Amino acid sequence: MASGTMRPVSEPLLSLENLEVSFPAGAVVRGVSLSVKRGETLGVVGESGSGKTMTALSALRLVPEPGRVTAGKIVFEGKNLLELSEKDMRQIRGGRIAMIFQDPMTSLNPVFTIGDQIAESVALHKGVSKSEAKLAAIEALRRVQIPDAERRARQYPHELSGGMRQRAMIAMALASEPDVLLADEPTTALDVTVQAQILTLIRKLQQELGMAVIFITHDLGVVAQVCDRVAVLYGGQVMEEADVYTLFANPKHPYTQGLLNSLPERTLAPPNSGAGGALNFIPGQPPTRPSEISGCPFRPRCSQAVEKCVEPLPTTILPKEHLVRCHRVTRVE
Ligand SMILES: Nc1ncnc2c1ncn2[C@@H]1O[C@H](COP(=O)(O)OP(=O)(O)OP(=O)(O)O)[C@@H](O)[C@H]1O
Ligand SMILES: [Mg+2]
Repeated sequence: MASGTMRPVSEPLLSLENLEVSFPAGAVVRGVSLSVKRGETLGVVGESGSGKTMTALSALRLVPEPGRVTAGKIVFEGKNLLELSEKDMRQIRGGRIAMIFQDPMTSLNPVFTIGDQIAESVALHKGVSKSEAKLAAIEALRRVQIPDAERRARQYPHELSGGMRQRAMIAMALASEPDVLLADEPTTALDVTVQAQILTLIRKLQQELGMAVIFITHDLGVVAQVCDRVAVLYGGQVMEEADVYTLFANPKHPYTQGLLNSLPERTLAPPNSGAGGALNFIPGQPPTRPSEISGCPFRPRCSQAVEKCVEPLPTTILPKEHLVRCHRVTRVE
């Protein structure tokens, strides 16, 4: 540990506090508060455009121009990352906090071999020699179960299959043994078998290294496999957050209920039921400019909306730290 005292395990390692990310057309992340402890996996789910990637990028101060973090704090080990110099931030980024990017080409450089890229990152963040970094890169490739890692390390990204490239990205993110891993849809592009292997792998490495993981996905099935807690994002706001069992067993927000109802296993009709096994889905589209909707951003699609829903969202904490932001759920039961 670089400096200071050890922090108690129960304290969050990374917290986003009232985070707001804005583009010229408006805010796309609106007062998001999330935190993750050492050894814990927080799932962040929501439909396309709900602000999942912008939330994660803001934690590394990588929101693309002309977007900006316009309010809030990002607290890592007691320090607000928004106040660090760019030089200090570079030490944290990819070292203490690493990200598996949604777009593989964001993190893999086509003109360098996989091994050199991983080694460079290790050398920068671990302060080890070049030869040690090379060995660490090969070890990182082995850890993500890339066969023949020494040979693969000498290959360029285009020489690897999609699944291997994804593993190489994960290897790169994990090579510096980060304290926090931000995994943005790490398995979406992969076929189901590879997806299952990668999920198991992230879970295993997380337990070995004691990382805090923020796992972003639009897939609640994946959340059930890997997460301890889950936050549901809609229109740039957290709608509901709870431990994974509570959220699946007792979803309170109509949006969460809609997402769960659209899971295939919940919609498979029994034989001869005449229901045809059609998938349930939430009618309508997520808003492109949620900041223009007064009150609850889900209101225009919500079958349970009432007049009050045009007012600012309330925050209710139910037992078991179950947070819900819905006008219809404002009393602790
Ligand atoms: N460069 C940009 N300029 C303007 N708006 C942007 C830009 N990048 C993202 N946005 C907007 O920010 C909002 C949140 O985007 P974000 O990428 O965080 O969504 P997401 O939840 O990660 O979606 P997906 O599931 O498709 O990855 C979207 O409405 C998007 O249109
Ligand atoms: Mg995204």
